[in-house]
Amino acid sequence: MPRIEEQPWGDSQYGRVKLYSLYNDQGNYVRISDWGATVQAICLQSASGAWLDVVLGYDNLAPYLDNPVSMGAVIGRYANRIGQARFELDGRTYPLPANHGDHQLHGGPEGFHLRRWSAESAVEDGQAVLRLQLSSPDGDQGFPGQLQVHCTYRWDNENRLQIDYAATTDAPTHLNLTNHSYFNLAGSGSSIYEHLLQLHADAYTPTDAGQIPTGEIRAVGGTVFDLRQPQPLGPLLNDPALAATNGFDHNWVLNGPSGELRKIAELHAPTSGLRMGCWTTEPGCQVFTTNFSGVGPSLKGGLPQVQHSAVCLETQHFPDSPNQAHFPSTVLRPGEIYRSTTIYGFRGVE
Ligand code: GLA
Repeated sequence: MPRIEEQPWGDSQYGRVKLYSLYNDQGNYVRISDWGATVQAICLQSASGAWLDVVLGYDNLAPYLDNPVSMGAVIGRYANRIGQARFELDGRTYPLPANHGDHQLHGGPEGFHLRRWSAESAVEDGQAVLRLQLSSPDGDQGFPGQLQVHCTYRWDNENRLQIDYAATTDAPTHLNLTNHSYFNLAGSGSSIYEHLLQLHADAYTPTDAGQIPTGEIRAVGGTVFDLRQPQPLGPLLNDPALAATNGFDHNWVLNGPSGELRKIAELHAPTSGLRMGCWTTEPGCQVFTTNFSGVGPSLKGGLPQVQHSAVCLETQHFPDSPNQAHFPSTVLRPGEIYRSTTIYGFRGVE
């Protein structure tokens, strides 16, 4: 039977924080904190008995209390960028606190990754389940509407981590949630140059110098963004077309109907044999290849934070949708229920 253990993990400005370990029948486990609804570890055991932790993270709570790179956390209210840190909704302009030049990134200076969520764990349908909940008051980081946000993690016996989000509001607002895990399927400490990435996306959203979408939906054919067949990341990340961002930090327009769960990506590390599939209901995915180095303290096991050491597959609506009328809408109105699901599934270590 799957099982869940919880342990105290330190203090925050919002009270005591816990770390939950969700075990499946194979003994493989995911560690999630109620601080930021953050995935701290995903540990899989190979046939030889060796453990592989496939996400970057920190050993202790302290670095997560300001978490400048959003390591493992749930991002809200608005994952990614809102240009000029403002939007207009129903004829009213809402200025937001900017934290990325003139723009807002990842929900503002005190986004959902810097909150303590309330948590309840259960074993249900052969899965280890952690239900997290957050109340976000009207005006939080500039956004209108009092929000109730639910994020449920399910870890099953097929080594799939399913994330279901649900939310309601009492006034019209914008909402765009994602999980910001940094994956390395060869284990932390190695580069991702040998990973192969496949993305089922025929187009992407080009950006300006401030990484705000220009509004164009551009076909990937003949560009470095064409990942429709699995591509090794090493040569791509050093392509001159990515010089401005030092790697991928772009949103792809996913194939298939938004709102329906479909497979959108596969990441493969030939060195470990491990593969990760990604399924989502979202229309977009920001691929970020850890383009910085030395940001934040050292990682689990004392490893330094180095460039190109992990891949984030941030399933989401497109950046700056509140200001781009032709992008799929991120408006949430009273009476509606926001719903979004993403699954990261692992295989190949058995
Ligand atoms: C996203 C952004 C990046 C960077 C990371 C870390 O991937 O697109 O530019 O800010 O988050 O927070």
